[in-house]
Amino acid sequence: MIEIKDLSYGINDDATEKEILKNVNLTLEDGKIYVITGPNGSGKSTLVKLIMGIIKPCAGRIIFDGKDITDLKINERANLGISYAFQQPVTFKGLKVRDLLDVASGKKNNFGQICELLSAVGLCAKDYVNRPLDNKLSGGELKRIELAMMLCRKSKVNIFDEPEAGIDLWSFEKLTNIFRSLKNSTNIIVSHQKKILEIADQVILLSDGEIVKTGSMSEILPLTKNRCRKLGGENE
Ligand SMILES: Nc1ncnc2c1ncn2[C@@H]1O[C@H](COP(=O)(O)OP(=O)(O)O)[C@@H](O)[C@H]1O
Ligand SMILES: [Mg+2]
Repeated sequence: MIEIKDLSYGINDDATEKEILKNVNLTLEDGKIYVITGPNGSGKSTLVKLIMGIIKPCAGRIIFDGKDITDLKINERANLGISYAFQQPVTFKGLKVRDLLDVASGKKNNFGQICELLSAVGLCAKDYVNRPLDNKLSGGELKRIELAMMLCRKSKVNIFDEPEAGIDLWSFEKLTNIFRSLKNSTNIIVSHQKKILEIADQVILLSDGEIVKTGSMSEILPLTKNRCRKLGGENE
């Protein structure tokens, strides 16, 4: 379980002074799917980066399974079982797709296991197993490889920032199946997509750095009409 208590984040340097997240309070239970939605710039990525420890809050605490992790570094949080899929996936020079999946699962996978992982994310294994992880892979391919990596990590908490971006040609059904298959973990997904909101146990609506409401999709959707024009429509 993750408890977020009075979490705030702001920028305060010579050029800018800006409150980005204001007093966010949330409880995220085990085995549930949470979808964070809201307009561009509302603070969604900031919130998930704070949970992962990529940035540090100005105020407030983050408690994970009873332990205060607010001052822990990214790798320390990763060791406790928190994983993060980037909005823009990263490439690793010199590494092949199968190496990355071996690293993520902490063991050597045989061809059959790699094949299963890659086909779960809609990639034909024989074409990708030995592909170098470089910028010759498209954004959508990298995004799917990253999803496969999240699948084999088997973390307690999985954070996805706009997993649908760049993979619009791929079926949403497969993407939502992936989230459903992670049902033993706590899943935190930043998304604008109605199809992803549909699988949420709880939707969290952010606007201007504040939680407007948490609830079911049917409770949240009417509130997004003016705030979030893209919801239910095309990707960013
Ligand atoms: N390091 C930063 N410096 C200045 N502004 C930032 C920084 N990080 C985020 N912001 C601003 O904070 C707001 C929230 O950003 P973000 O969390 O990325 O929004 P979202 O993911 O909801 O689109 C945006 O207005 C963004 O421009
Ligand atoms: Mg974002």
